[in-house]
Amino acid sequence: MGGKDAGATDGTRGRDPAAAVRAIVAAAGDHVAPLLARVEERLTAVAGAHGPPLDLHAGDTIAAGGKRLRPLLVLLAAGARPADEARLVRAAVAVELVHSATLVHDDVLDEAPLRRGRPTVVATAGPDMATATGDLLFSRAFAELAVPGGLAEGVRALSAASSALARGELLQREDAWAAQVTVDRYLERCELKTACLFKAACELGALEAGGGHGDALGAFGRRVGLAFQILDDVLDVAGPAQRTGKHRGTDLLDGTVTLPLILARERDTAVAAIDLRSVRTAQQAEAVCDAVIASGALGEARERALGMVAQAKAGLPGLPVAQHRALELVADSVVERYS
Ligand code: IPE
Ligand code: IPE
Ligand code: MG
Ligand code: MG
Repeated sequence: MGGKDAGATDGTRGRDPAAAVRAIVAAAGDHVAPLLARVEERLTAVAGAHGPPLDLHAGDTIAAGGKRLRPLLVLLAAGARPADEARLVRAAVAVELVHSATLVHDDVLDEAPLRRGRPTVVATAGPDMATATGDLLFSRAFAELAVPGGLAEGVRALSAASSALARGELLQREDAWAAQVTVDRYLERCELKTACLFKAACELGALEAGGGHGDALGAFGRRVGLAFQILDDVLDVAGPAQRTGKHRGTDLLDGTVTLPLILARERDTAVAAIDLRSVRTAQQAEAVCDAVIASGALGEARERALGMVAQAKAGLPGLPVAQHRALELVADSVVERYS
């Protein structure tokens, strides 16, 4: 799996992401690969249908790839017999569009130069264009759900996730440079900015399958999402840069206080004494990362994430064997890309 720091197929971040997706798809059954291909086709069509210059930036954002983890979750949560395949594909597209929109906006807030291995929209075209591109992707997401026979609960689930994302991003800005942020507050941020969309992806899939197990699948998605964000934050400290495509300590330079730093501050008074605003260069950030690593905080953060993955898997409801196995593999893949 790729991400902003590694394209969908370059395998520089964790194990070979494409192979992980192939294994999940193979476990789920023959129906998933063609559905994923339809999701991809539709994403391309939707992102490129608005005329220049927006379709250039929206189209590039989609064309850059990414792991497509959230649409995959929509398809897997729906199981082998969705009520309406076309509607399921649209639901998966809607979730990926919301995700892509939030990344484009996130890069404005984070002043990020790279996303999915390419220059960000904000870097190439400035914050106004990036804001408009994100807005377009957001609005197109909800249009995907507005189909005859479409499910109002699906719109509500995605809307709840979008609102949570906005709140999460604002919370992160509010807490910027605040070294004394608590673990609970950090987890609340992860819940809002990441876990809620994973949860919605699973809920949308469950709805398309007739609504059974929606709560349990939503809880699975939420836990996987939390683990995903924690491990993303671990990787920001651990690197290495050649694997992640960015300097270690990007979050620190951004003022974003994540679990590794919070735990390191508890373990090491020298780390606790660091004035975050004094960390200005990549070299200084790397030095703090080294101190965080030396404190043993990364192991503790990883353990927390692993615990959430285990809880996610343990809480899966009774499902057909192939569906169950594929969802377990998704949860494992989140951990494996960091091992
Ligand atoms: C990135 O998500 C944002 C986080 C929640 C850390 P992904 O790593 O899933 O991004 P893409 O879609 O693969 O680029
Ligand atoms: C995740 O936050 C982005 C969203 C959930 C919108 P990050 O800022 O940690 O994600 P990356 O590291 O930019 O992918
Ligand atoms: Mg960011
Ligand atoms: Mg990050």
